[in-house]
Amino acid sequence: MRVPAICVFLAAALVAVVMVQPLEAADGKSVYLKKCGSCHRSGGEAEVFAPTKYASTQWVRFFQRDKHKRKKDISADYTPLELEAVKNYLVDHAADSDQPEAVGLR
Ligand code: HEC
Repeated sequence: MRVPAICVFLAAALVAVVMVQPLEAADGKSVYLKKCGSCHRSGGEAEVFAPTKYASTQWVRFFQRDKHKRKKDISADYTPLELEAVKNYLVDHAADSDQPEAVGLR
């Protein structure tokens, strides 16, 4: 029996969606660990913080209003995709999230 093209397309789209999601999540975590962590680590120039530092709405606002700028302007060091990924990671593991992550940088 011949499989209709639309089924092949839908199956491929489903695989793509399933594969992309963990990749994005992993990416946000590595931006947080590597790039935010380059300053935010013990002995670094800024305080160590975990995603549970803020509630999810606070993280959203932090990025929306570029609040980091008040302490230090770091925006030029991040692509929009990196900022989106790290924001999503922090929101997903915020204090009021389903999977709070209290241990982050060291
Ligand atoms: C170039 C160094 C540097 C990098 C990179 C950096 N920060 Fe910071 N950050 C600072 C400094 C300096 C402060 C102010 C001192 C402190 O809070 O320890 C700060 C403060 C903060 C604060 C506290 C804000 C407040 O109002 O008290 C948060 C939250 C924060 N950074 C998040 C991040 C996130 C998220 C990233 C990665 C996207 C990041 N930082 C990357 C240097 C950096």
